[in-house]
Amino acid sequence: MKIAVGSDHGGFLLKQEVARLITSLGHEVLDMGCYNEDSVDYPDYADKVVAEIEAGRGEKGVLVCGTGIGMSIAANRSRKIRAALCHDLETTRLSREHNDANILCMGGRVLDTNLALSMVKLWLATAFTDGRHQRRIDKMS
Ligand code: RB5
Repeated sequence: MKIAVGSDHGGFLLKQEVARLITSLGHEVLDMGCYNEDSVDYPDYADKVVAEIEAGRGEKGVLVCGTGIGMSIAANRSRKIRAALCHDLETTRLSREHNDANILCMGGRVLDTNLALSMVKLWLATAFTDGRHQRRIDKMS
């Protein structure tokens, strides 16, 4: 699977770890930046990851900022995007099973790194449940 990843400065370190994990799981990473801890604006990087998914170059995405809030607000402006801001394994699993989330948003300043990496692993491995959930998603597309 091709996974687009992006962050601002607040999520940079976690984004680097996430990219390494995704590669080690055998997926291809499209790293849309940022590329260091210099201060940048999260909407610019959300837009880059969203563009990869909208164009079909990336199947899914992971966005990280300080809290994950800014990234999720920015990414969800697109009707093709279902960006889920998750904080634990349960919300992560349900974001795939019920919401068919195509972007996982996380907060680099609020999550333990090992938990965040476990969330990414689970998110990539969890399928959409379909059925009644598809009807609800169709209403947002
Ligand atoms: C940047 O300082 C911070 O505001 C940003 O990373 C994010 O938390 C916004 O939602």
